[in-house]
Amino acid sequence: MNRVAVLGSSGSIGTSSLDVVAAQPEHLQAVGLSVHRSWDVLQKQITRHRPRWAVVVDDRLKAEIGTPDIPSGTELWWGEAGVERLASHPDVDTVICAIVGAAGLRGTVAAISQGKRVALANKETLVVGGPLVMQQAAESGARILPVDSEHSAIFQCLEAGRSRDVHKITLTASGGPFRGWSREKLENVTVEQALAHPTWKMGKKITVDSATMMNKALEVIEARWLFGLTADQIDVVVHPQSIIHSMVEFVDGSTVAQLSPPDMKLPIQYALSYPERWPGISPKMDWSAAQTLTFEAPDYEAFPALKLGFEVARRGGTSGAILNAANEVAVERFLNGTLRFTEIAIACQEILQHHQFDSQPTLSELLQQDRWARQEMSRWKSSLK
Ligand SMILES: NC(=O)c1ccc[n+]([C@@H]2O[C@H](COP(=O)([O-])OP(=O)(O)OC[C@H]3O[C@@H](n4cnc5c(N)ncnc54)[C@H](OP(=O)(O)O)[C@@H]3O)[C@@H](O)[C@H]2O)c1
Repeated sequence: MNRVAVLGSSGSIGTSSLDVVAAQPEHLQAVGLSVHRSWDVLQKQITRHRPRWAVVVDDRLKAEIGTPDIPSGTELWWGEAGVERLASHPDVDTVICAIVGAAGLRGTVAAISQGKRVALANKETLVVGGPLVMQQAAESGARILPVDSEHSAIFQCLEAGRSRDVHKITLTASGGPFRGWSREKLENVTVEQALAHPTWKMGKKITVDSATMMNKALEVIEARWLFGLTADQIDVVVHPQSIIHSMVEFVDGSTVAQLSPPDMKLPIQYALSYPERWPGISPKMDWSAAQTLTFEAPDYEAFPALKLGFEVARRGGTSGAILNAANEVAVERFLNGTLRFTEIAIACQEILQHHQFDSQPTLSELLQQDRWARQEMSRWKSSLK
């Protein structure tokens, strides 16, 4: 029995993870859950999954909730320290890291330092501190298994050959809701338009990231560290059907791809079952129905965020922490109407250019850079009134 803690259990990946766990009672047991503020969701999850521990990160809720009525057998913990305690608890085998943003870093690092199996959805961890996190995993023996569908696909394709025989990898991108739009047309994109993703149902931040293609930029950086590749070995192709989740080309010219309907339950389950494969609740391809799979080059002019991903993957050092933090605040500002859609990438690029680059930062230096970039982005002047 694999005892699983789900960090970010109320989110899109968190709830899908709990569906996967509930469907595999002979293999998996949810022993710990964490949310930021979604107390109502957490209460229902506690009743359904009966975990040993539940964490609410925002401890301002303590006053509102008082002494909550939760089933005996579940202990309630508070704050970021509660997440760290859960992620590193000796009675937890696997930690699903599904908190959004750099806020997910602490729990992920805690799990890695204890040598856990880490099912990593929180790509921001590797974007911010890729080399440090991978080194820590090598030292502790932690196994990082990707949940991002593209990285899960690459991970699966790599099973077909040796890492040193990889020529390049190709990450597929759906293209988001604005595929084919010109730069000019993108100027006036609304929040509602940006949140209407054609193929994936996800949390708000990643949905906006998909619309700007910043999500793919973050994935390029994530892949660079997770698989130990150079930026030049990573390609992006737009594949609107989201059936091929990514591909690996080996040195002999053979390309191996992973295909499945767009549904996160499959990569989540694989991160939990690896190296086994279990029958599960993910939908399967129907090859008797006609399929058209199309591919096109990304439009780097209309979606300059993608260029930033390659730039940061090349530079490393502090640049990932800066891009990630600047983008997190830019997305918040776009969602609250104080930044234009097209200004997200422009502002991120400017802040990246002006930051004090360090090629080998410590974790505390990265966190300091993160704070600086957030401040810069909060006061970045938009052309909106
Ligand atoms: N959704 C997808 O299909 C998908 C695919 C690939 C990768 N990912 C990655 O998976 C991660 C989660 O994405 P998502 O779409 O599931 O996000 P989401 O739906 O917005 O859920 C985010 C989760 O994180 C918690 N959270 C938010 N801020 C927090 C904080 N400061 N401290 C602690 N917990 C916090 C939320 O709790 P509350 O509900 O209490 O706010 C929620 O449980 C992201 O890194 C994303 O890039 C997602």
